[in-house]
Amino acid sequence: MRGRDMNLDTNRDRDNRPILFFDSGIGGLSVVKEARILLPGRPYVYVADDAAFPYGAWEEASLLERMVALFAELIDTHRPVMTVIACNTASTLAIHRLREAFPAEIFVGTVPAIKPAAERTRSGLVSVLATPGTVRRQYTRDLIRDYASQCHVRLVGSETLAGLAEQYMREGFVDEAAVGAEIAPCFVEQDGRRTDIVVLACTHYPFLVNRMRKTAPWPVDWIDTSEAIARRALSLAADLPPPGGEGVPPSGGEGIVDRAHFTSGTPAPALRRLLSGFGFQF
Ligand code: DGL
Repeated sequence: MRGRDMNLDTNRDRDNRPILFFDSGIGGLSVVKEARILLPGRPYVYVADDAAFPYGAWEEASLLERMVALFAELIDTHRPVMTVIACNTASTLAIHRLREAFPAEIFVGTVPAIKPAAERTRSGLVSVLATPGTVRRQYTRDLIRDYASQCHVRLVGSETLAGLAEQYMREGFVDEAAVGAEIAPCFVEQDGRRTDIVVLACTHYPFLVNRMRKTAPWPVDWIDTSEAIARRALSLAADLPPPGGEGVPPSGGEGIVDRAHFTSGTPAPALRRLLSGFGFQF
């Protein structure tokens, strides 16, 4: 039996099915970080479809097809108790379709925080910083129509920020000027008012927020949804059998093995180190 299968079986013996976190790369770790605090005691599986990174550049029909086929495999292999799609680009495209295709599964989606931004802005000028895919989605346009019609919302699609975040996470270095150039279109001045909120509508971006603060032309609120997603997962977890099974006290995490799976195969040492820092083994 291969190591991975053996560990999955160990988790099964404990009647302790994992929570699966999914992203195109390592951005979903921003959600894992928050979930670790709110949802301990269950195994986590982190899946990065890095063979297809960046999702932001994909044409919609092909990405949808890829995701449905991939999830059929992931559900079969990992039998998750819940799946957190920790990716705006994937959720805004596929969350409805995944719920339809796998009705027995629980999915938590990640979508741009346009409603909270519209409620909080004082100037009425809000920017949504996302991948080109998320910016194009009808889902995103519907959120603006339904919750932010009274605001001026600028959609800013960046082709490079998710990759810069990946580089920063792996190498600890990022070109600040490049980050500054990517966020510059978020800053709008109009009739004496200025953008006061930028929605980080890609799970990679919270890892760059300090660089964004540093290179921003003026201070704004940066809305990061990681904690809200973890809270949503927590509220849905309340209806699940307790970790370890009925009548078994929560383990607090001892003996639980958290696994990462990258669709491109075995990742390079820097990435393995990063994932192990987040508590995952391959
Ligand atoms: N982390 C993904 C998101 O939240 C996007 C990265 C990509 O383009 O693949 O949108």
